[in-house]
Parts: sequence; structure tokens; C-alpha cells
Amino acid sequence: MNDTFEIISHSAEETHAFGVQLGQAAEPGDVILMTGELGAGKTTMTQGIAEGLGVAERPRSPTFVMATEYMGRMPLYHLDLYRVEQAAELCELGLDEYMSGDGITVIEWADRTPDAFLSGCLRISLEPVDDLARRITLAAKGDRHIAFLASLQAHTTVEKR
Ligand SMILES: Nc1ncnc2c1ncn2[C@@H]1O[C@H](COP(=O)(O)OP(=O)(O)OP(=O)(O)O)[C@@H](O)[C@H]1O
Ligand SMILES: [Mg+2]
Repeated sequence: MNDTFEIISHSAEETHAFGVQLGQAAEPGDVILMTGELGAGKTTMTQGIAEGLGVAERPRSPTFVMATEYMGRMPLYHLDLYRVEQAAELCELGLDEYMSGDGITVIEWADRTPDAFLSGCLRISLEPVDDLARRITLAAKGDRHIAFLASLQAHTTVEKR
């Protein structure tokens, strides 16, 4: 079983659709850490995840709020750490509580979220190749997230590298 794989998305719609597959496969306690520059597609994928979870609203990149909760077949905790500088602030946010909870947690700008915090997680990095193409690299840590990744790898319709 691989604990990492790479796909290429050719459009925002494709990244969204991959998110839907993620949302459908997610289980309570799953943690998705997203990295990628401004406009890479983190929120686009999160909107797909929300749809896959049956959330009625469309998550946006929060401007001032760092965490937003949505309800689908389970809660979706959407965090954006763009403005968070220090690990101490992460503790103040109660990140550990989100992660041990009954829902799925998606964190944008998770570059500074240390793995050491987590028993398991799925890291997703989105890298623009050109205007429309994104290289999406997925890496899992921990048994549950490795199994999650394997099921995504088996079922995704997005081009594999
Ligand atoms: N293959 C693609 N995947 C995702 N988004 C794409 C793709 N091609 C073009 N786009 C466009 O790139 C933009 C991605 O914006 P989005 O808000 O999802 O990025 P973000 O990573 O969340 O940025 P920020 O860090 O500012 O929150 C959208 O305008 C989307 O239409
Ligand atoms: Mg965003």
C-alpha cells in the first residue's frame, strides 16, 4: 500500500470533483492538511469536500474567522491558518480538539502545522503548473489515513502520474 501519490487536475471543476470524492470517503476524525500558494485551489477542493459530505453551504476562504463549522453527514471544521504565525496560537485555537472530534477537519495553509501534533493526517499539496493545471500530491501518515489514501487512489477519476 502506497502512502503517497500524485495526480494532475486540469481545471477547477476537476479539483472540485476530487474534493467531492474525498468528502464521500471521509470518516470522523480524518484530518486534511492543505498547502499551496494563493489561488492554488485549496478552497476549491474544500468546497468539493463539503459537497461530498452533504453540506448545503459553500465554504469560502474566511477573511477574519480562522475556523468555520459546517454540518453535513458529519461536521466539517474548516480552518485557514494564513494568519497564524506561531504554534502557540494553534494551541489557542484548540486545534487538538478539532482533530480528536466527531467530524472531518480541513486546514488551509497548514505549512506550519507540525505532524508531531497528530497521530494521523492526509497532507495535500497543490502546485500550479499553469493557469488551469495543478499538481496535487497526497501523503498519508497513520494507518487510518493510509487506508483513506488507498481508497482515493483506487477510485479517483483524476489523471494519475
Ligand atoms: N485545476 C484547478 N484547480 C483548482 N483551481 C483552479 C484550477 N484551475 C484554475 N483554478 C482557479 O484558481 C483559483 C483557486 O482559488 P482558491 O480560492 O480555491 O485557492 P486557495 O488555494 O484557497 O487560495 P487562498 O490561499 O487565497 O485561500 C480559482 O479561481 C479557480 O477557478
Ligand atoms: Mg483558500
